[in-house]
Amino acid sequence: MNLVLLGPPGGGKGTQAKRLLEKFGLVQLSTGDMLRAAVASGSPIGKKAKAVMDAGQLVSDDIVIAIIDERLDQPDTKNGVIFDGFPRTVAQAEALDAMLVRKGRKLDHAIEVRVPDQLLIERITGRFSCAKCGAGYHDKFQKPKVAGVCDSCGSKEFIRRADDNAETVTKRLDAYHAQTAPLLPYYEKKGILNVVDGTQEIGQVTRALEAILSA
Ligand code: AP5
Ligand code: MG
Repeated sequence: MNLVLLGPPGGGKGTQAKRLLEKFGLVQLSTGDMLRAAVASGSPIGKKAKAVMDAGQLVSDDIVIAIIDERLDQPDTKNGVIFDGFPRTVAQAEALDAMLVRKGRKLDHAIEVRVPDQLLIERITGRFSCAKCGAGYHDKFQKPKVAGVCDSCGSKEFIRRADDNAETVTKRLDAYHAQTAPLLPYYEKKGILNVVDGTQEIGQVTRALEAILSA
C-alpha cells in the first residue's frame, strides 16, 4: 500500500506517518527530513536547498523528484510507503505517477489532514524533536512523559527546526495554499482522496486514518 499524506505545515503529517508505520508495515518518506539531512551533511543538494528552506519556499521539483526516485529503488520501500510532504506541486504529483508506473507500483490513497491556518503557528512554534532518534514532541500538545527525556530512546538532547519561526511559517503557508492545495482536486479526480479532521487530538486523527487504510 502506498499513500500520500497531504496537509499544511504543522498539520500533523510527520506525527501521523510515524504512528502508522508499524501497523501497516510501511516506510515514511519525508522529503523535508531528507532535505534537512542533506543540509546537515553539507552535500551539494543541501547547499542549494538551505536558503530556499530558510525562506519558507519550495525546493525545485527536479531535486525532490530525483531524491524520491532514487529512494524508491531501495528494497525497504517494496511493501509500501507513506509520502510525507511529497508531492507538493502538480508537477511533482505527475512525476510521482509516472515513476510509480515505471516501477510497477501504484498510489492507493491520498489523505488530506485538514487544519485551519490559525492553529498552525502554535503547533509549529511549539514543536521540538529528539536529536538522537527523531521522535516528535510539542511544548503543549505532546510533552515527553518525563520532562527533558525522550520517551522513545531516553536521550536528553532535543532540537528545534531552523524554519520553525512565525515569519517563515507564514511563507510556508503561502506556498502551501498557492502550490500544494491544487493537489487536492488532482487526487479527487483520480478518486483516491480522503479528508480527515486534523484538529482532533493526535490519537483521534490516527484512528481516523487507520479506518481509511483498513477499509
Ligand atoms: P517539511 O519538513 O515537509 O515541512 P512542512 O510541510 O512545512 O510540514 P511540517 O513538517 O512543518 O508539519 P507536519 O505536518 O509534519 O507536522 P508535525 O507532525 O510535525 O518541509 C520543510 C521544507 O522543506 C519546505 O518548506 C520546503 O522548503 C522543503 N521541502 C520539503 N518537501 C518538499 C517538496 N516535496 N518540494 C519542495 N520543497 C520541499 O506536527 C507539528 C507539531 O504539532 C508537532 O509538535 C506535533 O507534536 C503537534 N501536533 C501534531 N498533530 C497534532 C494534533 N492533532 N493536535 C495537537 N498538536 C499536534
Ligand atoms: Mg513534517
